[in-house]
Amino acid sequence: MMQTIQNLEEVAMTTDQLSNQLSNQFPNQLPSAPYGTFAPEGGRTIKKPLTLNQLLQMHTKGEKITMLTAYDATFAALADAAGVHCLLVGDSLGMVSQGLPSTLAVSLETMCYHVESVCRGLARVQGSAWLIADLPFGSYQESKEQAVRSAVALLKAGANMVKLEGGGWTVEVVSFLVERGIPVCAHLGLTPQTINALGGYKVQGRGEAGAKLRADAVALEKAGASMLVLEMVPADLAHQITQDLMACPTIGIGAGNATSGQVLVMHDMLGANINKNPKFVRNFLVDSSGIQQAFKLYVQEVQSGKFPDNKLHAW
Ligand code: KIV
Repeated sequence: MMQTIQNLEEVAMTTDQLSNQLSNQFPNQLPSAPYGTFAPEGGRTIKKPLTLNQLLQMHTKGEKITMLTAYDATFAALADAAGVHCLLVGDSLGMVSQGLPSTLAVSLETMCYHVESVCRGLARVQGSAWLIADLPFGSYQESKEQAVRSAVALLKAGANMVKLEGGGWTVEVVSFLVERGIPVCAHLGLTPQTINALGGYKVQGRGEAGAKLRADAVALEKAGASMLVLEMVPADLAHQITQDLMACPTIGIGAGNATSGQVLVMHDMLGANINKNPKFVRNFLVDSSGIQQAFKLYVQEVQSGKFPDNKLHAW
């Protein structure tokens, strides 16, 4: 009899351990999920992760969506606790963490490693941020099938959505992914993975090129993209694209204040840029008592429409 009780206790312990392990691995998938996932222990309230629908509703209601890049557990937890809605494991990590000259050499394995780290950080604070991961250069250019394989790796590492760069040929890739249940964020304007073709980090979409960007944005939305990052495009053009789209929120970075939300590279907004800060960056740490406060200030200023200021941070 004693033996049986001991065995039962061991089983219960293993179940708890498994539950903890699962919530560490898949923080964004546990609460209220079906298929026998574990109930919260003893009335512990679980903060529910944000869903894509909730983000789309925010956009419909005109509430600004906030996004920051995150590459590790601690900063992800801090940004989440500050109320940042979306975390982007951007391939910018190649430049800010790995010290590479561009994002081109970032591998899918490296992206998965950072997504897993961010995911564990979110799990530690029962985080609710929507987690987006960049498909790195070379992981989706070859074929639609390659894109699915790469996106699946990022989703298995814990991402909720993948981001890819460019218009034109990517439209087909986007619909292929979306049809297979993989949410996609598109990225137009300055697309760092094509920096060699663009000839430098310059404002995109000026003059006649604006019409092409508008057409690309509409095509990407039609293909199923449910978010669109607009990087370094004139504020008027970003405003126009935001209005052109039916339901897809635009997230600006150097695109003025009329987009549905904003994103910044975390290092930049903390003033931790080795080189000169681009014009669209504001250092939020100088006006704050610490990093968490800087994240909170960013959230407040994006939501109130104070940041970005078109006179200072846009073209
Ligand atoms: O890689 C990244 O961090 C990005 C943002 C700059 C939007 O794509």
